[in-house]
Amino acid sequence: MLTTSLPGGTWTLGGLTVTRFGYGAMQLAGPGVMGPPADRDGALAVLRTAVELGITHIDTSAAYGPTVTNQLIREALHPYPDSLHIVTKVGANRDPQGGWPPARDPQSLRRSVHENLETLGLDVLDLVNLRLGDAAGPLPGSLADAFETLADLQRQGLIRHLGVSNATPEQVAEAQAIAPIVCVQNMYNLAHRRDDELIDALAGQGVAYVPFFPLGGFSPLQSSVLSTVAARLEATPMSVALAWLLRRSPNILLIPGTSSATHLRENIAGAALSLSNDDLAELDTIGR
Ligand SMILES: NC(=O)c1ccc[n+]([C@@H]2O[C@H](COP(=O)([O-])OP(=O)(O)OC[C@H]3O[C@@H](n4cnc5c(N)ncnc54)[C@H](OP(=O)(O)O)[C@@H]3O)[C@@H](O)[C@H]2O)c1
Repeated sequence: MLTTSLPGGTWTLGGLTVTRFGYGAMQLAGPGVMGPPADRDGALAVLRTAVELGITHIDTSAAYGPTVTNQLIREALHPYPDSLHIVTKVGANRDPQGGWPPARDPQSLRRSVHENLETLGLDVLDLVNLRLGDAAGPLPGSLADAFETLADLQRQGLIRHLGVSNATPEQVAEAQAIAPIVCVQNMYNLAHRRDDELIDALAGQGVAYVPFFPLGGFSPLQSSVLSTVAARLEATPMSVALAWLLRRSPNILLIPGTSSATHLRENIAGAALSLSNDDLAELDTIGR
């Protein structure tokens, strides 16, 4: 059994135990998540530091770079420790302008699963999320054809577990009618709380919720309430935002992104911050 000193303890995704404090690799690619990073050695060091500090959940996608973050993960960490679980996503390509056009037809999904296997150097992917919607957020519409394709690849033994990303609650339910899911990865943070009900419903089912942009993504979280609470606790707003997510629900897994090993250490220390009921009530006013 995995024990950890990381804040939040562990969670079991299907049969895979992961630390609730994970790491999102997207920020390791070049500007606009295109091309290689300016500081390649620094990027490799961040990944090695994450594992040295005990993180066992790394989030990536062949669309990052494209394939840049997968190749960095492989170079930094392969052969992977048994405890490490790399979660990837399929369903979007990159265009030359850095856009994220959908690629959810069966042929593209199959190609993308094989591309992830190859670039990560794996025979089986631990967890694959089907990315839906577009860069602006979830969009309604059936995921049946796409999700059935992934369920088929799972039956072939290429994928252990499935999840959905950027999904509406209706799409989550539609996916669950096709095959079990172990996580939903959607945008959520202190200031963006559209998924409050979904998080609680998934907690009741034992399904993980993995918020992307936990720190606001490309535009850092800004709120006078957050700044006030952080100043009172002599902490950074980022620490408060991460600690709040861990407290928000036991099924929330963190994958904050950073290209800096120093920030990674700061975020781990920050997520351990203790929040009182008064702090929580005050923070609760931000996104409501
Ligand atoms: N499913 C999807 O559609 C989807 C979409 C977006 C992202 N994701 C996943 O979610 C992960 C998390 O999202 P994200 O990385 O975009 O956003 P995020 O975690 O909300 O924020 C990352 C940003 O915060 C900065 N940062 C982190 N720690 C800091 C610190 N201690 N002090 C100052 N700045 C700090 C980073 O800059 P530095 O590099 O300078 O630290 C980076 O600019 C991604 O890495 C990716 O794996 C998934």
